[in-house]
Amino acid sequence: MSSQITAIVLAAGAGTRMRSAQAKVLHEVGGRSMIEHALRAVVGAGVTQTVTVVGHDRDQVSSAVTAFNPDIVHAFQEEQNGTGHAVQIALDALDTPPTGTVLITYADVPLLTGQTLAELLIDHHAAERSVTILSAEVDDPSGYGRIIRDADGAVTAIREHKDASDDELKVREINSGILAVDAAFLTDAVARLAPDNAQGELYLTDIISTAVSNGLPVGAHVLEDVWQTEGVNDRVQLARLGRELNRRLTEHWMVEGVTIVDPDTTWIDSAVELAPDVTVLPGTQLLGATVVAGGATVGPDTTLRNVEVGADATVIRTHGSDAVIGRKATVGPYAYLRPGTELGTGGKIGTFVETKNAVIGAGAKVPHLSYVGDAEIGEGANIGAGTIFANYDGVNKHRTTVGKHARTGSDNTFVAPVTIGDGAFTGAGTTIRKDVPAGALAVEVTEQRNIAGWVQSKRPDTTSAQAARNAETDSSEPEGDATGE
Ligand code: UD1
Ligand code: CA
Repeated sequence: MSSQITAIVLAAGAGTRMRSAQAKVLHEVGGRSMIEHALRAVVGAGVTQTVTVVGHDRDQVSSAVTAFNPDIVHAFQEEQNGTGHAVQIALDALDTPPTGTVLITYADVPLLTGQTLAELLIDHHAAERSVTILSAEVDDPSGYGRIIRDADGAVTAIREHKDASDDELKVREINSGILAVDAAFLTDAVARLAPDNAQGELYLTDIISTAVSNGLPVGAHVLEDVWQTEGVNDRVQLARLGRELNRRLTEHWMVEGVTIVDPDTTWIDSAVELAPDVTVLPGTQLLGATVVAGGATVGPDTTLRNVEVGADATVIRTHGSDAVIGRKATVGPYAYLRPGTELGTGGKIGTFVETKNAVIGAGAKVPHLSYVGDAEIGEGANIGAGTIFANYDGVNKHRTTVGKHARTGSDNTFVAPVTIGDGAFTGAGTTIRKDVPAGALAVEVTEQRNIAGWVQSKRPDTTSAQAARNAETDSSEPEGDATGE
């Protein structure tokens, strides 16, 4: 057995039924494009080189492939004359003909795993076959190529649906399209393909009967898990496979020690990492490269994309992206964490708070109804309810710095750039335009005037006037004058 394994990933098809401006194989399942799923699977199978065959949406697909791994060879199939033609083009794109084994797979079967491909290769090598087909028994084989076996059960051919006889159409064992093939045999066999079939295409599957008629060993590796062979042609299948992948991912994390109260309303992307003893409450989406440490509780009704959640943190009814939530910190309910938010250990971002490019120190709190943009808040500081960090002057963004253990009053506006020193206080309703030194109290008071009897005189027939009259009779000594106190 040679250790050389070349993967050919077919991705040239048009994907017409997606009805999309985006290439079919770039549509995502579990937060990852279908082509990335396919490329990860071949990596998982231990291949030594990979060729992708691109055609429709060539530029989009090629850049995704290069972004995944710049060493992958790209073969361009201008017209899609069939899977056999695609493989010819892939072989032509290599500098030297492949040796060892060629693994042929598709870019639109997102649930296929590297482990399955590895098992296919092990079976192929152990049985010393020229071709091993990854097959599956399905309830509805319509459209698929059928595995044709002789009376002894030996594989003799793959018959495409459109070329099959009535008896052959009854066969429920299908060709997944994924094959392991001896490289030398493949190179020879695909060069001899002819389009003598119902679709006038070069069928890769014709190499099976070629091998059989040359007396070469052929067989099928039957996959029990039929989901792994399912392709995506439209958005109904995309959602179906997306739900199944999510079922598998939520189950995987539960087995790993994560409590998921309602797997049906929890969505976890493929790249997410969860520690044991994380709790995920209903209606939660953990997306992208989100990582949650042990003891943290996320949800209900929370969406986190590329967010790092520290141990024992609590994140309730929150929308967050590209943010870091510290150990034992609390977030929400109803918080909006935008990119660049970093909340320190034990810190708090509370209800109806929006943050962006905000570094909030350990134990610091922004509990209520605030916007914190382009800010640094020192450890132990407390920001009063209803505070706006006015970071934008209409042209440029500016930063605000709040010192350690500062306590700012309710309804403040910090007009950036501005610095509030360590341990400083600010009064309620203050607009801070100038720096506040450490330990100072900043107040901005305009005197309050009470105009006595104004309601009785200007709004005489209102319930307010009536309430005021009642208060006057109830009270022994009515007070207040036109100048206030
Ligand atoms: C093929 C198989 C069929 C199998 C089925 C599984 C052949 C002749 N038939 O069917 O036995 O049951 O897959 O889904 O191989 N592609 C190219 N270039 C082409 C044609 C196809 O890159 O010229 C790619 C497509 O993008 C797709 C894959 O190959 O990813 C399969 O093509 P598709 O047309 O879906 O499969 P069929 O040929 O119908
Ligand atoms: Ca198909």
